[in-house]
Amino acid sequence: MKTNTMPTLHIQPLHPMLGAEINGLDLRTPLDDATFAQVLEAFDRYSVLVLHDQALTDEQQLAFSRRFGPLEPTKVGTVGHGSSLVHLTNIGPDGAVVPENHRQMLNTLANQLWHSDSSFKRIPALASMLSGRVVPPEGGDTEFVSMRAVWRELPEAIRARIENMIAIHDYAYSRGKVDPDLASEAERDALPPVRQAVVRKHPTSGERSLYLGSHASAIEGMSIEEGRRLIDELIDFAGQPRFVYSHKWRANDLLIWDNRFTIHRGRPFPPNYPRYLVRATVAGDAPTLAN
Ligand code: OGA
Ligand code: MN
Repeated sequence: MKTNTMPTLHIQPLHPMLGAEINGLDLRTPLDDATFAQVLEAFDRYSVLVLHDQALTDEQQLAFSRRFGPLEPTKVGTVGHGSSLVHLTNIGPDGAVVPENHRQMLNTLANQLWHSDSSFKRIPALASMLSGRVVPPEGGDTEFVSMRAVWRELPEAIRARIENMIAIHDYAYSRGKVDPDLASEAERDALPPVRQAVVRKHPTSGERSLYLGSHASAIEGMSIEEGRRLIDELIDFAGQPRFVYSHKWRANDLLIWDNRFTIHRGRPFPPNYPRYLVRATVAGDAPTLAN
């Protein structure tokens, strides 16, 4: 049997607050346990990992993603429903780029709002693994913010005020920001609003982290307007340029991020360029609230 030689990965931080590039791995074949442990350690520490030149098949992407834990089934209404992959694409079934008012394009716009994947589920996602299959030559970056860093830099009075707050997260609400009819009846039925903690705790470092994004529609105990004002103010604070790591895609990049402690958003790109990314989403293991 092969011995665990603990190869040292080349890990290069990308931003003072989050993100690191990992070089020297080929994810097409399984990593040995010692190497995977180093990837997990980097994931915990940096929250966003970037690996270039990973030309993965769907099966290879699924196999690597499952190392992190069970995957979420792709929800109704998303391209890829019935599998464990989400196809984020502006390419229609006929191979042409869809028009700007097409559902796939509207969902692309909804992804351009700061969010954490699946925060609208009672047990929200742990991680996302996004593979760049076709990327536009300009625009279409994906941006990330460390919500641990945001928490650290929020004024103490605000931290004390929001520490024990509970937010309602609602898929129909975030889609409604783009188009009132974007969330279909089937999606609304499958995804009723859920309650989430506004502040989470990082399991290894013990740091606290703000947990809000586009799906957050209300704060328990506050009027709708007041709650939304607070949510919007906090997300605006989080989105300040100094917090943002912006990823410029190359084809065959694989990005891995921790949805518990980051938010992300896509950026606009010229509508005539095809863009096709494939995501596997690692399920979380517990709700953010005990009840
Ligand atoms: C996602 C997402 C943004 C983008 O894959 O979850 O929000 O840039 N992507 O496509
Ligand atoms: Mn997303």
